[in-house]
Amino acid sequence: MQHVIQAFEQAQGAPSVIVRAPGRINFIGGHTDYHEGWVLPAAVGNAIHFAFRANGTESDYVVQSLDNGQMIQQRLGDLPVSGPGWAPYVMGLIETIRPLLPELKGFHCYLGGDLPQGAGLSSSAALTCGLAAGLNALAGGQLDRMRLAVLAQKAEQQYAQVQCGIMDQLAVLISQPGEAFLLDCRSLALRHIPARFPGYRIMLIDSGVKHADAASGYNTRRAEGEEGLQRIQSRFPEVKTLRDVTSGMLSVMGAEMPSEIFCRCAYVVAENARVQKAANYLAAGRLAAFGDLMFETHVGLRDLYRATCPELDFLAEMAAMYDGCLGARMIGGGFGGCLLAIVEEEKADAFSQGILQRYAARFGQNGRAIPVELGPGLAVSTHL
Ligand code: GLA
Repeated sequence: MQHVIQAFEQAQGAPSVIVRAPGRINFIGGHTDYHEGWVLPAAVGNAIHFAFRANGTESDYVVQSLDNGQMIQQRLGDLPVSGPGWAPYVMGLIETIRPLLPELKGFHCYLGGDLPQGAGLSSSAALTCGLAAGLNALAGGQLDRMRLAVLAQKAEQQYAQVQCGIMDQLAVLISQPGEAFLLDCRSLALRHIPARFPGYRIMLIDSGVKHADAASGYNTRRAEGEEGLQRIQSRFPEVKTLRDVTSGMLSVMGAEMPSEIFCRCAYVVAENARVQKAANYLAAGRLAAFGDLMFETHVGLRDLYRATCPELDFLAEMAAMYDGCLGARMIGGGFGGCLLAIVEEEKADAFSQGILQRYAARFGQNGRAIPVELGPGLAVSTHL
């Protein structure tokens, strides 16, 4: 936090709004949010920090990243750029929120922090939600956190071309320290659950794999699930989304659906059941049963939803064979990225060294281990 504020003060004077936006993990509930299912995410201790101040102009804004040294210098109303990198997220969010903040004028924003990018911790949601909360405060807006989450999701869908669900944004915005929450992605009702793993460490094992087509793979899976939904609805019109599908309906539909579409739907139905069980296990401290469900999720994502990749599958298999690993699964959008693993504290270093060595030997590339702790949700402070 301090280095962002200091850099801002030196160049622009005292900031009037400061925001801390954390990353998130998702214990279980992979690819269920956009099918109105259930998820169990939590904010982590790593975050992006932002400092803002109006710069006296009508519409010139500058967003400066201290992490990558890049600067985005535009005018409110400019059409967001598309393509790779962070600019579509920044400009997309600004143009999405602008109509709701009539008082928003030109501003300076500096940002930086310790949230690794591309590590499955949703640095993109931290970026858009942090900006949304900061601009809302700067312009005296009254947008509540649910609204900010939906705006950030819309910006990502429209300008980063990922048809994402609402989980990441809500996890950034409403997490409580040390807790996960069970989110019903239809009603947005949530239940906070203390996430205590005494004697264990939560780790990310980053495969380092970044497939250029990850966004299109994600969008394809979503579309395949929706195709399955339409087929099921033709027989069961009461079904609104895959979240309403039962295993009985699936067995009736089985023969009538192309097998890969059937598999996508079968995964979602099973995963929704797993998330609810897992939430109860976590609340009851039944950690071994909780971890087993994480392993099962990975297998479902690998064999039925097909959102993993050989590198992640290798890491998941290694983790499943390791004695001190409670549970592990791929997190995030998939087709690369990270494995989330819960490992006995005393064995955690040996676990990550061993798994990374084998990984390098098998794939000829290095992964990295990132220990994570759970932390608070987004915080805003104003000094107007
Ligand atoms: C990404 C998306 C989320 C969710 C996950 C998969 O993180 O942004 O909405 O769909 O993938 O669970």
